[in-house]
Amino acid sequence: MQLVLERCTVRPWRMDDAESLTRHANNRKVWLGLRDIFPHPYTTDDAREFLGKTITAQPTTNFCIDVDGAGVGGIGVRLGQDERRHTAGVGYWLGEEFWGRGIMTEAVGAFIDFCFENFPLCRISAEVFANNPASVRVLEKAGFTFEGRLRNNVVKDGKVLDSLLYARTT
Ligand SMILES: CC(C)(COP(=O)(O)OP(=O)(O)OC[C@H]1O[C@@H](n2cnc3c(N)ncnc32)[C@H](O)[C@@H]1OP(=O)(O)O)[C@@H](O)C(=O)NCCC(=O)NCCS
Repeated sequence: MQLVLERCTVRPWRMDDAESLTRHANNRKVWLGLRDIFPHPYTTDDAREFLGKTITAQPTTNFCIDVDGAGVGGIGVRLGQDERRHTAGVGYWLGEEFWGRGIMTEAVGAFIDFCFENFPLCRISAEVFANNPASVRVLEKAGFTFEGRLRNNVVKDGKVLDSLLYARTT
């Protein structure tokens, strides 16, 4: 899989992305928008462990956002199971130095189209912490619809926050 877009390419991760991945992922501002499963600080060992698992996973569900040949962000889906097997949740992040250039809007739009074409899905959702307006904008621009505010749904960085549920359906 390779989605060659105007501002970036979405492609499979490679082991030689470890250095660039560590550099861009090891950022508190990136971590603040993500689930706690995303390590902080983010070490080369974390990158190698993630890449080892991701590269061997079947099917591949986690992909690299490549700008000018370097892996500077990630995007992936978590596929639902059993009666939710037609659903998935999407997650994404980008190295801070690339924020605000429309890269994630482009990547999310193309990646969601790819997922609907390649997995048997009729719903892809995203849950955003309520203090993350940039991610809300990305989802709105990528055609997601607001479904509801989940009050006091997460504790991030010691703060109890609402999360905002968005989805795109077929
Ligand atoms: C959220 C994130 C993915 C956005 O990526 P990006 O490539 O900078 O996004 P884009 O440039 O495509 O679009 C950002 C939009 O948010 C808007 N925006 C940015 N900061 C904003 C703010 N504080 N308030 C309102 N809108 C804001 C931008 O103006 C832009 O919208 P526009 O095109 O209508 O002007 C990136 O900041 C990131 O990786 N954050 C850390 C991880 C994270 O939060 N992941 C998402 C988890 S749900």
